[in-house]
Amino acid sequence: MSNKLTKMPEWKALADHHKEASSVHIRDLFVRDPARFDHFHLRHEGLLYDYSKHNITAETRTLLLDLAKVCGAESLRGDMFGGKTINNTEDRAVLHTALRRPAKDNVKVDGENVMPLVHAALEKMKQAAQAVRSGEWKGHTGKSITDVVAIGIGGSILGPRMAVKALAPYTDRNLKFHFVSNVDGSDLSETLLNLRRETTLFIVASKTFTTQETMTNALSAKDWLCGRQSHDIAKSHFIAVTAEVKNAADFGIAPENVFPLWDWVGGRYSIWSSVGLPLCIAIGPENFQKFLDGAYSMDRHFQDAPPEENIPVIMALAGIWQRNFCDRPALAILPYEQYLAGLPSYLSQLEMESNGKSVDRDGNKIDYATCPVLFGETGTDAQHSFFQMLHQGTDITPCDFILCAKTQHPMGDHHRKLLANGIAQMQAMMQGKEDTKNPHRNFNGNRPSTAIVLDRLDPYYLGMLLALYEHKVFVQGAIWNLNSFDQWGVELGKVQAKTVLSSLENSGAQGLDSSTQGLIRHVKSR
Ligand code: F6P
Repeated sequence: MSNKLTKMPEWKALADHHKEASSVHIRDLFVRDPARFDHFHLRHEGLLYDYSKHNITAETRTLLLDLAKVCGAESLRGDMFGGKTINNTEDRAVLHTALRRPAKDNVKVDGENVMPLVHAALEKMKQAAQAVRSGEWKGHTGKSITDVVAIGIGGSILGPRMAVKALAPYTDRNLKFHFVSNVDGSDLSETLLNLRRETTLFIVASKTFTTQETMTNALSAKDWLCGRQSHDIAKSHFIAVTAEVKNAADFGIAPENVFPLWDWVGGRYSIWSSVGLPLCIAIGPENFQKFLDGAYSMDRHFQDAPPEENIPVIMALAGIWQRNFCDRPALAILPYEQYLAGLPSYLSQLEMESNGKSVDRDGNKIDYATCPVLFGETGTDAQHSFFQMLHQGTDITPCDFILCAKTQHPMGDHHRKLLANGIAQMQAMMQGKEDTKNPHRNFNGNRPSTAIVLDRLDPYYLGMLLALYEHKVFVQGAIWNLNSFDQWGVELGKVQAKTVLSSLENSGAQGLDSSTQGLIRHVKSR
């Protein structure tokens, strides 16, 4: 068992500090320091990060920064940006940050500068996006595209699905975007219901081009498109985004319609690559570049800002404090912005697939908690569903509130009411309200929350926000000594699904436990 982390003096100092600090209510921290907000918030351009409503003092912060230092987060950061093979279990570099860097930069993987590849792919993506948007891209009957159907799953679809919705005001409203991920035929069937074959473009994104769900959907989409006609007509209706060019060619995708991906871009970090093609078509090349620029600006901040002013570093440390020292098992993601409805599930994958691990980088079992459970919903809807538990449940759940100072739709006082609700909820969670007569109406408060306030939700600030979370996950993984860039935990279920599938297709279900056999027998008998 690797317990190096919990044996470190810096870890022990934090555990000791927690014993004293836990008796202090957050509202008392505000009483002690009336300028607490000034001392516990950071800004980067039009992004404000407020952690003043955490049970964190200046001493807590110093001790957490000491921990980050001894855990080598800084040198690992240099290794990531520098293209070193930090994904040790898959023997790969981790270079999603290269995807937003300027062309003049030099980033080497195995001695080769990857920036020319990155920018050639970006150029190809921008040209295709422009062709679809202008109507120049024609289907097999010579008609322009009206509907784009993105097919993929996990990291190959969550990003574009979330971002196309988030940036709807920037999209070409003449084009319709659809996202199909589930192997459940209802997903594809419902999507195809109102589409016209001649004007539909499918973008199949799969790094491996072997993922069961994606390939099943792609094949059914091709059957729907071609019907009894030659499969050649699919050529102008199918694009592949993949690292496995041969698999895409075998599927019948024209070589010029294959967009590259590299093994040093992880699925959940891939929205900046050709996986972002649906987004690039939706918002156009210029806005897509702004999206990359926003992320790049956060990359620079993460690389250059001193640790105590570094938003991803402090955000990661506040999370480590809540998870490991205050024993908080979950994190709620609460965008007070309807356009960010897809953010909770995007961040669930980003954090839980990256840091939901129980062995360290060297495969040693660890004796400390790692990634919390992420869940969430937009405000104010969430207030009327699970906020009861956030205010009065037995578990304390830290919350990330994401607000935008300006709205896309200045309609009456809607936006003021939205902001008022978000800000008030954070205050209520922190402050509480004592009711000595009626325990049902008593609020203890002392429930931590983070506020992230964007000046506005546009391509630039969406890019910045996503990069912030990526780097937060990175710093937490560095401290927990995890490989945040593999996902072996998803493999076993995939293999078992094949065995169960063959039992469903054939008669035998031998070698399986009685529950699995019973379920197979039951569904077959209905
Ligand atoms: O099952 C998890 C996963 O491997 C994700 O990490 C990945 O984003 C997704 O599946 C899709 O994989 P692919 O892009 O190869 O189809």
